[in-house]
Amino acid sequence: PPLAEILNLHDFEAIARLTMPEKAWAYYSSASDDEITNRENHAAFHRIWFRPRIMRDVTVVDTSTSILGHASSMPVYITATALGKLGHPDGELNLTRAAAKRGVIQMIPTLSSCSFDELVDAAQPGQVQFFQLYVNRDRAVTKRIMQQAERRGIKALFITVDAPQLGRREKDMRMTFDAADPHEIGKSGGDQVDRSRGAAKAITGFIDPGLKWADISWFKSITKMPLILKGVQTWEDALEAYDQNLAGIVLSNHGGRQLDFARSGIEVLVEVVEKFKEKRGITFPNDRFQLFVDGGARRATDVLKAIALGATAVGIGRPFLYAFSTYGVEGVDHALQILQDEFEMNLRLLGAQTIKDLVPNMVDASNIRSHLVTVP
Ligand code: FNR
Repeated sequence: PPLAEILNLHDFEAIARLTMPEKAWAYYSSASDDEITNRENHAAFHRIWFRPRIMRDVTVVDTSTSILGHASSMPVYITATALGKLGHPDGELNLTRAAAKRGVIQMIPTLSSCSFDELVDAAQPGQVQFFQLYVNRDRAVTKRIMQQAERRGIKALFITVDAPQLGRREKDMRMTFDAADPHEIGKSGGDQVDRSRGAAKAITGFIDPGLKWADISWFKSITKMPLILKGVQTWEDALEAYDQNLAGIVLSNHGGRQLDFARSGIEVLVEVVEKFKEKRGITFPNDRFQLFVDGGARRATDVLKAIALGATAVGIGRPFLYAFSTYGVEGVDHALQILQDEFEMNLRLLGAQTIKDLVPNMVDASNIRSHLVTVP
């Protein structure tokens, strides 16, 4: 269908499922084991309700915000997802270009199909990009990647900490991949390619399961970029990240692709905010330590719930992959336009003129601990 008939982010998924190459659909859509966490990610947002305010002159609303000190047109960023060329020949360039046009930030993955330099070269002057780091067993490789990222102007480094071993993604495992085909296998995956069991397994053998807290000082010795841990799932680890003077954390379960029965980021957010207040007297958002959430956000309302609770921004992954797989860069642009429109409308309906006006008492999160999983 023409793009004009795509009314929301769910639509992109429904169409991609019918039109995408089978291998690409398997890799993008898959999650681990019984995919309970993947379903829960979206469902968890359903347990939070709004407490909108009235009579607050919402003639003009402003959806813009600041993420780690960088302007963003909305409290959303494009999170890192590997292997963009499985879905479209231009791969992650679709994301870079649409992000430029819409004023949002892209997180470039270690395992992009396009080369890192290609994605940085494609950025417009002043366009902000972050980088997602998989830590290689060979720290010399990691050091080189970090230095290259800093040299090329990457503004923040998101170190993925929830993938010491790859989750079991059975949809993907049923596919075999051609390691010689750059469309199928990312460029920086190294040489340990196992083509017999899906894209994920083929590219991730280099990731270091020995990563530990004591390594943080090593990362800090190499780069001045702000460091954020991606994949924090408890308040205990959130506090540790704060005490180690990191710039922030992403409350994430990797889109349900790692530990099945991990809780959703939005649920963990509630506990993290509560415990930081109790143990450190800190409230969010604040500039010293920023909270991010990803997983299952498909509507501006999902994002606005996280923002009201204290998150700085929310990462969105699969919808943009589905958008470019079918429609290329225009698809991603349309997806961002949909979000922009949803943000403006819902800010008005919430009685908030700006993102800063979103405060905890605009949501009722009292059901967040009910552990109810509904299939959307
Ligand atoms: C991912 N994600 C991911 N994360 C990461 O740190 N490094 C990576 O290489 C990838 N690759 C990747 C590929 C694909 C196909 C998906 C769907 C996801 C996880 C990603 O950054 C994010 O945590 C989730 O995608 C967020 O959930 P939604 O928005 O996809 O539901």
